[in-house]
Amino acid sequence: MGSEPASSQPDQLGDEPHSLSEFNERTILLNHSQRTHFLEDHLTELHEGGLYNTIRTVESPMDARIRVDGRYVLNFCANNYLGLANHPALREAAKKAIDDYGVGPAAVRSIAGTQRLHRELEIRLADFKGAEAVLTLQSGFSANLATIPAIVGRGDVIFSDRLNHASIIDGCRLSRAQIVAYDHADAADLARRIQETDSDGRRLIISDGVFSMDGDIAPLPELVAVAERYDCLLMIDDAHGEGVLGEGGRGIVDHFQLHGRVDIEIGTLSKAFGVMGGFVAGSQTLIDWLKQRGRPFIFSSALTMADVAACLAAVDLLGESNELVLRLWQNTEALRLGLQQLGFDTGLSTTPIVPIMLGDAALAQEFARQLFEQNVFAMAIAYPTVARGQARIRLMNSAAHRATDIEEALAAIADIGTALGVIP
Ligand SMILES: Cc1ncc(COP(=O)(O)O)c(C=O)c1O
Repeated sequence: MGSEPASSQPDQLGDEPHSLSEFNERTILLNHSQRTHFLEDHLTELHEGGLYNTIRTVESPMDARIRVDGRYVLNFCANNYLGLANHPALREAAKKAIDDYGVGPAAVRSIAGTQRLHRELEIRLADFKGAEAVLTLQSGFSANLATIPAIVGRGDVIFSDRLNHASIIDGCRLSRAQIVAYDHADAADLARRIQETDSDGRRLIISDGVFSMDGDIAPLPELVAVAERYDCLLMIDDAHGEGVLGEGGRGIVDHFQLHGRVDIEIGTLSKAFGVMGGFVAGSQTLIDWLKQRGRPFIFSSALTMADVAACLAAVDLLGESNELVLRLWQNTEALRLGLQQLGFDTGLSTTPIVPIMLGDAALAQEFARQLFEQNVFAMAIAYPTVARGQARIRLMNSAAHRATDIEEALAAIADIGTALGVIP
């Protein structure tokens, strides 16, 4: 790495730049200071360990087929479950909102006031979810960060599924509550850990609804039973169940018909809804409290009006028809069954997230590389996102795929699986 040449050191303070280009030059020089060189070592380690994630450039709207790094490929990477990310109704709604309201919210809602459209979306989402009230946030990630530290703190205990999403883990850490991890999707282990943990404080159970790397569904009826038996709060992050599970995509609580028995639901508007944003659904009291104490709500600007309007259009579409949800599930079954018939291991999946379990990280990387060569875009997932030895290709289904897209993908997967010795 070596040290910077003397000429790249920043000038003394007070030596004002005379033009924008000179200013830019100086900013670049400052950014090249030696203080961040330690990160080069970390990046080298990632490269050497085969763990460096090269992010591809997408040059078209998100759809079944997208242009990536200059070529058209079948898209099995996105969370665009219902194909809404490029839906004409959502695009039109977003354009109209820009004409009516402008492009940015210009402040946090608690200071500059809340736009009528934000309120409308929250009322519509509450109705859609069968919840008393909803609060929207900038993302699903923010929704977890807003909620968990606002309801538990020092002296309280969180019981968290071992495979919960990173945003739940970060929300738990921010809260400063004691965190007790229970075995994945294991309500008996959860109950045991609750019995073993002494606490005079509040107790909160948190689980993903659909687990994002395995595509399995949390055992919600059992979690509800444990929460009720031990008088714990229950929070479910339904990011991958929203628009996917339940009648018309109303989510995991609707899927299991457990309305009113889950205290807090987290949702995202960035996956099946095709747009951007997150939300919390629950009692009016919970939502009122989050408006006072949910830090990403009170200290960060709101969703743009174009996002909100597009989300409203998505809620309209879901309210009108179940068709997209049904198509998503037809595609999912065709893909999963096709893979199983070819001899692939699809792990625990029972949802549109379908992994091909490969084990070895290098094999998964090579599989994904060859898929891309055959114009199928699917992600290799390895440690640290999943445990060592559990590397996989993760295929994300969408209602946007046609039957022929699934057949084309299966043919490429079969070819590569045979060539790499994964299937006979
Ligand atoms: C379970 C879960 N929660 C939250 C999120 C974050 O959602 P968003 O992309 O809206 O921030 C994700 C995204 O992958 C997720 O899988």
